[in-house]
Amino acid sequence: MVLAAAALFAFVLLFAIDFFAPAKNPYIGILAYVIAPLFFLLGLALTLLGAILQKRAERRAGHLEGKHRILQIDLSRKRDRRILASFAVGAVGFLFLTALGSYETYQYTESVDFCGKRCHVPMEPQFVAAQHTAHAQVACVHCHVGPGATAYFKTKLNGVKQLYHTVLGDFDRPIYITAETRPEQEICMECHWPNRYIGMVDRTYQHYLSDEANTPFAVRLLLNVGGAEPSRGPVGGIHWHMNIANKVEYLATGEDAETIRWVRVTNAHGQSTEYRTDDFKGDPPQHDIRRMDCLDCHSRPAHNIIAPNDAVDVALAAGRIDPKIPFAKAKVVGALTQPYTSKPEALQAIATSLHAAYPDPAQADPLIAEAQAIYRQNFFPEMKTGWRTHPNNIGHKDWNGCFRCHDGNHKTADGTKTIAASDCNSCHLILAQGSGEQLKKLNADGHTFFHIDAEFSEFSCTTCHTGGPQLP
Ligand code: HEC
Ligand code: HEC
Ligand code: HEC
Ligand code: HEC
Ligand code: HEC
Ligand code: HEC
Repeated sequence: MVLAAAALFAFVLLFAIDFFAPAKNPYIGILAYVIAPLFFLLGLALTLLGAILQKRAERRAGHLEGKHRILQIDLSRKRDRRILASFAVGAVGFLFLTALGSYETYQYTESVDFCGKRCHVPMEPQFVAAQHTAHAQVACVHCHVGPGATAYFKTKLNGVKQLYHTVLGDFDRPIYITAETRPEQEICMECHWPNRYIGMVDRTYQHYLSDEANTPFAVRLLLNVGGAEPSRGPVGGIHWHMNIANKVEYLATGEDAETIRWVRVTNAHGQSTEYRTDDFKGDPPQHDIRRMDCLDCHSRPAHNIIAPNDAVDVALAAGRIDPKIPFAKAKVVGALTQPYTSKPEALQAIATSLHAAYPDPAQADPLIAEAQAIYRQNFFPEMKTGWRTHPNNIGHKDWNGCFRCHDGNHKTADGTKTIAASDCNSCHLILAQGSGEQLKKLNADGHTFFHIDAEFSEFSCTTCHTGGPQLP
């Protein structure tokens, strides 16, 4: 009865937290509506069992004594008062502890620690990669548990399945999001309202070549992000896709949506235009048509596994790797991208290869420390997870990203029209490029892209660029 009472009390408390708390917590449901009732039923079952056993014992004892003994409390007796008082104090203490325990459990299951670290082998890549993004402070459950009761139950059921596979150790390596578990765009829109007008964004991409001098090469772009809210400015630019009035649908081959062969745009008046590539002969309704949302471009908002080429560029730009060390860029990228099977093996091998390349420890040691730090944050051999397994579709240099649709190859049936924004100046203007003095020559109309040593306007950067060592 004590167990049942405590469970009932815990339930009432958890229910109150669930009901009154400003932010909904998905795990409190498990505690309130699964665990607490389970203990309540267990308490009741024990009470029943106790009663039956007692009855039986009494019946047997009845043969000997022949009468029932009834509990009698007499408050005029000092002993009874003492027992009752200590029982009351004990009960209050017990209830207080249950309350505290329930509350603490609630707090804990809500934490990033619970999602990211307790389940540390399967969730390590996502947990670690989230730490260096703008969303490091956003709790996992905020994005991964949708609003509403259906989403809630789906997540719970999925959680049970995941727990089972974690215990067995037979979970997927790498782990991918599925159509059912992918966060909905509405979740992003809880914090990023589409009526924010972003306009032009000025970004500089600082790179270093793989030559002896680690020659700096930067591209300064004016990205036309624009907006989708007519009251704030003209609707257009990259965030045109965010306009809820337009519907962009596509057909992807492969789970990771890296090859898109058919696209349909439906505008506010319900008129639609279809684009397809020459090699697509299928009938779209026969396939799984998806609606484009934020995640089709922002595919790595929280789990940005940085490509080694970019991670080393950042380390050079920030001075953590000295650009005066000959071939530093090439050697570090080379050491990072060997096929290793475990983290300890990789860290060891990185140290060995860089020591061999730079005999002077004054040069080698800081280089090794930085290379190992990059490895720890972005490579997860135990989960077979790395920058190649989880594409970042925000641009087009290392993955096809925007060029999955904007490559000039998606045409209407009569072949007259291709998807808009298929030239180098429609999404961004190149304000400046190169290094040193060259970067001061701003061009408001946009430069033609000057690729290292030649003018360049060819599409598909990914035939050579993969985020790893550059192919010639
Ligand atoms: C800002 C929102 C956001 C937060 C916070 C977030 N995630 Fe994610 N997560 C996503 C999105 C979006 C995807 C899927 C991207 C895609 O479509 O491929 C994803 C994918 C995943 C995947 C599938 C594998 C992958 O990398 O695609 C796992 C596992 C995961 N998240 C775990 C976590 C964990 C653990 C945390 C907390 C440490 C967390 N997430 C925090 C948005 C978020
Ligand atoms: C709980 C609120 C919250 C949610 C949910 C959320 N974000 Fe964010 N997001 C933020 C904050 C805070 C920042 C940092 C803003 C700043 O510092 O200017 C941010 C920054 C960003 C940025 C710009 C920084 C960068 O990384 O380039 C993008 C893009 C972004 N979020 C996309 C998304 C997408 C896509 C989703 C849905 C999967 C999402 N966010 C969900 C709060 C959120
Ligand atoms: C067509 C691709 C595309 C879609 C769809 C898209 N975005 Fe973006 N978004 C971009 C690009 C490109 C940038 C700017 C470049 C960058 O961040 O590297 C950007 C920038 C942002 C930023 C950062 C702005 C800043 O001040 O730096 C936020 C926040 C953001 N997007 C949120 C969203 C949300 C939320 C959605 C869905 C409702 C969404 N985006 C849909 C491509 C897209
Ligand atoms: C799933 C296919 C698809 C992807 C991926 C995609 N787009 Fe688009 N985009 C479209 C379609 C379709 C249109 C409308 C074109 C039309 O009607 O001619 C469009 C239009 C645009 C426009 C013109 C908007 C205007 O003002 O009319 C820009 C700019 C643009 N996209 C940039 C991007 C960028 C940048 C990315 C990558 C971050 C991207 N798109 C990814 C399909 C896509
Ligand atoms: C559909 C829109 C779109 C088109 C068309 C487009 N780009 Fe981009 N480009 C982007 C976006 C978005 C980014 C930013 C990616 C990011 O923030 O990581 C980008 C980034 C870049 C960068 C910097 C990449 C880096 O990491 O250093 C270069 C250089 C570039 N584009 C050149 C070109 C050239 C050359 C063409 C023509 C062949 C072209 N772009 C056409 C959308 C486009
Ligand atoms: C034919 C192969 C090839 C193609 C196609 C190609 N690149 Fe490159 N790119 C290279 C090589 C090789 C380098 C020099 C790499 C080095 O020294 O580390 C390079 C260097 C760069 C750099 C500076 C260094 C770095 O590490 O990022 C940028 C930026 C760049 N390319 C952008 C692009 C863009 C954008 C496209 C597509 C519009 C593109 N490239 C297409 C081969 C190519």
